[in-house]
Amino acid sequence: MAKARAASILISGAASGIGRATALGLAKAGVALTLFDRNAAMLLDVAGACRQEGADVLDVAGDAASDSDVKTAVERAVKTHGFLSGVVAAAGVAHKGDVTALTDEIWNVTLAVNLTGPFLLARHAVPHLLKNPASAFVAVSSDSGIRGSRGYAAYSASKHGVVGLIRCMALDHGPGGLRSNVVCPSFVATPMADGLLKENDGAYDRAFYERRVPLGRFARPEEVADAISHLLSPQASYANGMVYMLDGGTTAGTFG
Ligand SMILES: NC(=O)c1ccc[n+]([C@@H]2O[C@H](COP(=O)([O-])OP(=O)(O)OC[C@H]3O[C@@H](n4cnc5c(N)ncnc54)[C@H](O)[C@@H]3O)[C@@H](O)[C@H]2O)c1
Repeated sequence: MAKARAASILISGAASGIGRATALGLAKAGVALTLFDRNAAMLLDVAGACRQEGADVLDVAGDAASDSDVKTAVERAVKTHGFLSGVVAAAGVAHKGDVTALTDEIWNVTLAVNLTGPFLLARHAVPHLLKNPASAFVAVSSDSGIRGSRGYAAYSASKHGVVGLIRCMALDHGPGGLRSNVVCPSFVATPMADGLLKENDGAYDRAFYERRVPLGRFARPEEVADAISHLLSPQASYANGMVYMLDGGTTAGTFG
C-alpha cells in the first residue's frame, strides 16, 4: 500500500539544474514526486536518486510545450499519487539573438517552452490543485523577467510573460486557496549558464558576470531549490503573486 504523503508535487525540467535540485530536496523531505522532462535518460537518473532518498517517484518523459504531453503528466501524477498539491514549472531554454537576428524557429521554441509551457501546466494542473485546501504553483522566471537582457530578446520576453501569467493566476485562483508565485534568479551554476557563457564565444567569462552580482558569485541550484520549496510549503502560507528576486542583489539597483 502506498504511504500517505502530505504533498504531491510535479516538477517540469526535473532532469537538470534547478529542477533536479528541487526534486532532490523535496525527495529528502518525503514529498511524493512526479518528474517531467524531455531528457528521458537524465530524468531516469534523477528519479533513481530521489528513490534512494525514499521518495515515491513517477517519471514522465515529454515535451513541456506539448499540450498532450503535459496533460498526460498531470493525469498520471494524480492517478499515481492520488492528488496533486504543488507544481514547479522549471523547464526552460535560452537562446541568443536580438530582434534582427532571431529566426521564427528560435522565437517560437523559446516562447513555446518558457511561456506556453507554464501556461499548459497551469491549465491542466489548476483544477486538481484547487481540490486541496492549500496548494501552490511556482514558476521559474529570471532577472530577465523584470528587465531586459541585451542580446536575449526572446528569452527576456518569454520570462516577462511568466511573471504576468503568475500574477494573473494569483488573482484568479488565490480565492480558491491556490498560491501562485514566481522565482527570478540571475545566473545559477547549471548547464544552462554554462551554455550561455560558451555562446558568448569567450567574450565574457564567468568572472565578468560574477563581478556584476553584489554577492560576487552565481547562485547554486540548491539555493534556488530552497526558495522554491519554501514557496511550496505551509511556511509561505501568505505568499501569493510574489515575484521573488533571488539574484544576490543584482536587480536591487545600479552596482559597479
Ligand atoms: N541557469 C541560470 O542562470 C538561470 C537563471 C535564471 C533563470 N533560469 C531558469 O531556470 C529554469 C531552469 O534552468 P536551469 O538553469 O536549471 O537549466 P538546465 O538546462 O540545467 O535545465 C533545464 C531543464 O529543462 C528541460 N527542458 C528544456 N526544454 C524542455 C522541453 N521542451 N520539455 C521538457 N523539458 C525541457 C531540459 O531537458 C533540462 O532538464 C529555466 O526556466 C531557466 O530559464 C536559469
